[in-house]
Amino acid sequence: MENLLIKNVNLIDCSQNFCGDIYIEDGIINEIGMDLRKDCKVINGRGLTLLPSFIDMHVHFRDPGLTYKEDIKTGSRAAVSGGYTTVNLMANTKPVCSTMKEVNYVLEKGEKEGLVDIHQTVSITKNFDGKDTSHIDKLDNKVKVISEDGKDVMNSKVMMEAMMKAKEKDMIVMCHSENHDLTIDDTRLSENMMTWRNITLAQFTKCKTHIAHVSTKEAMEYIIDAKSKGINITCEVAPHHIALTDDIKYRVNPPLRKEEDREFLVESIKKGLVDCIATDHAPHTKEDKLNGSPGISGIETSFPICYTELVRKNSLSLNMLSKIMSKNPADIMGINKGEIKIGKEADLVLIDLDKKYKIEADKFISKGKNSPFDEMEVYGKIKCTLKKGNIVYKDMDF
Ligand code: DOR
Ligand code: ZN
Repeated sequence: MENLLIKNVNLIDCSQNFCGDIYIEDGIINEIGMDLRKDCKVINGRGLTLLPSFIDMHVHFRDPGLTYKEDIKTGSRAAVSGGYTTVNLMANTKPVCSTMKEVNYVLEKGEKEGLVDIHQTVSITKNFDGKDTSHIDKLDNKVKVISEDGKDVMNSKVMMEAMMKAKEKDMIVMCHSENHDLTIDDTRLSENMMTWRNITLAQFTKCKTHIAHVSTKEAMEYIIDAKSKGINITCEVAPHHIALTDDIKYRVNPPLRKEEDREFLVESIKKGLVDCIATDHAPHTKEDKLNGSPGISGIETSFPICYTELVRKNSLSLNMLSKIMSKNPADIMGINKGEIKIGKEADLVLIDLDKKYKIEADKFISKGKNSPFDEMEVYGKIKCTLKKGNIVYKDMDF
């Protein structure tokens, strides 16, 4: 492994702003200071910003079984090109990820690619049958999160039992909050009701509960209220719910909402009430999209969308953005990452914040070229991504 010196860079994380040099030895952040001199590869960071690389708690890599939409290799490559080096994969694959066999398949394949740290979520009910939680007993501590993402667990007793088991095993239950009986009538009621249901079960079981892709004002209000009462709740918001509304027609679940919801989510982020940004990267083929599959291929556009929308337009600090894209998701997942500190693994991303460019979905690395952000002008171009000091993506010469 090559040692690396990045010079004259704007180094920013959740709690610091520093302009100077950073030296990485054996993949670990070794020294931060001014005028460092080392006999190793040097990157000129002048005019660029260095952040901890991003951590995405909500990603679909579709492997095994749906690899015509994405696989671990293309997903990993797409992730690092978006500045991400840790991803938490959802269980709605084919077969559904319900046992350690599927978990180990994914982890081994991910390690072979070696670009990103992969965590694999296991389903809340066995094969998404909505009833059986016996498989949870057999999971080992490689599994940090269980989730039925793609749908919710409709039976509240089953959800309660799963939360009790998760509490026992110190796992997080990640909730896709949706009442499927009501979705046809009103997707908003459907999300709100199950957000409230999932919160009340979290309060009862005291299980660590993470509410995925919050999209409505009311759901966010329930979460804010729950947090104020000390309930063990965290939540995520997706870039598309921050930047878009139902003015544009684009199918994603939960759907794009009203301007009032969007504004409320942005304000909640500014107040520090949203724990993290998660992409819900959901790649689909063109044909599947035409046939109505919901989802956005979002991992390559997440940073520029959030930076443009939150920092440039809504004056969120870059420290706060770094917090919700790196530090908080690391803390929730219990991983020692997300900050630029001596002794930490050098998982970093170098960005040209002032670079304005047009998103081109047909040039995505992901197999999913499905994006409502196609042709949108954004700021913030990912120039280089480091994983444990290794260059895993670069779009610059050095
Ligand atoms: O839009 C979505 N797509 N929402 C989900 O919950 C699932 C995801 C997918 O797997 O395609
Ligand atoms: Zn979901």
